[in-house]
Amino acid sequence: MQTNFIIRGFGHYAPERILTNADLEKIVDTTDEWITTRTGIKQRHIVTEGEAASDMALKSSLAALAEAGLEPGDLTHIVVATFTPDSMIPSTACVLQHKLGIKGQMCIDVSAACSGFLYALQTARGYLTLDPEAKVLVVASEVISRRTNWEDRSTCVLFGDASGAVVLTGGDEGETPRVMDMKLAADGSLGDLLSVHGGGSAYSYKLGEPVGEEFFVQMQGRETFKHAVRNMTSICEALLEENGVVKEDIDVLLTHQANWRIIDAVGRKFGIVPEKVFSNIDRYANTSAASIPVALSEAVKTAFIKPGDLVLLTSFGGGFTWGSALVRF
Ligand code: UT7
Repeated sequence: MQTNFIIRGFGHYAPERILTNADLEKIVDTTDEWITTRTGIKQRHIVTEGEAASDMALKSSLAALAEAGLEPGDLTHIVVATFTPDSMIPSTACVLQHKLGIKGQMCIDVSAACSGFLYALQTARGYLTLDPEAKVLVVASEVISRRTNWEDRSTCVLFGDASGAVVLTGGDEGETPRVMDMKLAADGSLGDLLSVHGGGSAYSYKLGEPVGEEFFVQMQGRETFKHAVRNMTSICEALLEENGVVKEDIDVLLTHQANWRIIDAVGRKFGIVPEKVFSNIDRYANTSAASIPVALSEAVKTAFIKPGDLVLLTSFGGGFTWGSALVRF
C-alpha cells in the first residue's frame, strides 16, 4: 500500500538571548572576522537559565500544530530528535508530551546528531506506513550551549540553541507539501571525529567528581568538513537518480546549517545557483538536529520556498550520519 506523507505544519523557536561574535571575542581568543570568513556565522541564540530542550520543543510544536490546524490531543506519535535531551530518563519526547498536556501517544527520542531531524522524519514515515491515519509530531530541539566547552575556541563559536517541528500525516494523491522520498546512511567507524562521550555508559562517574572535556562537543573540524561535503553530495545524487530527478529540477537546496562554506560547496557541486540555496546560519549558527526544521519553517514563512517548488534537503552529523530528502511543496 502506498502512503502519502504530507507535512501539515511547520514551526520553529529560538531563545531570545543572542550571543554575537563580538560577545565571543570577550570570552575566547577569536575574532568576528575569523568566525565570519570561516563559517558565515554572525550570532547564535542561547537558552536562559532553566530553559530546556523540551521547553523549546513545546514552542516549536505548538506553532507547527497551529499551522496544521490540529490539537495536541490529535497526535498519535511524538518523535524528538536531539543529542541534548533534558535527561537520560525520561525521554524528551515523554517530557514534551506531558508539557503538551496529553497522554497515551507513543513517544520516542531519536539520536543521530545533526542528521536527527531527517532520521526522525524517516521514523515518522515508518509509523505512517504502518498506520496511514497516524498524526506524527516530529520535533528537533537542541540546547548545545550546555554541551559547549566555552574555553575551546575551535568549537564554542560554532553552535547555537533552537527547535524546529513539523506535523506529518497521510493524505490524498496530489496533496502537498509531500515528502517524496528519503535516503539515510551512517559510518560508525568515524564516530570519534565528532563526539560528546560524557554522560554515556562507556565512562564511569563518581559523585562529586568534576566533569572533563569529554562532557562537551569535541570535533576534528577539517576532517568533518571533508566528509560532510562528500557524503551530502553523494547521498543527494543517489536520491535524485533513484527518483528520476535531474539537478535542473531542484528549486531550493536546503542543507544542514553547519558552515556556509560547506553549504556553498554542496550547492556548487550540484550547479545550483546561490539564489536557490537557503541559509540562515548567520543568525542561528549550527543548531544540530534543529537546523533543517528551523530553516524549513523560515523558508516557508518568508516564501523563499513557494508552492510547487521541489526542495532537496540534506544533512550530515556525528556518528557519522547523513541523509537526504525530496519534498514537493
Ligand atoms: O554539524 C555537524 C557537522 N559539522 C561540520 O560539518 C563542521 C565542519 N568543520 C568546519 O566547519 C570547519 O572545519 C571549522 C569551522 C570547524 C574550522 O575551520 P577550518 O578552516 O577547518 O579551520 P581549522 O580548524 O583548520 O583551523 C585553522 C586555524 C588554526 O590555527 P593554525 O593552526 O592554522 O595556526 C586554528 O587554531 O584557525 C584557528 N582557529 C581559530 N582562530 C580564531 C580555530 N578556531 C578559531 C577561532 N578563532 N574560533
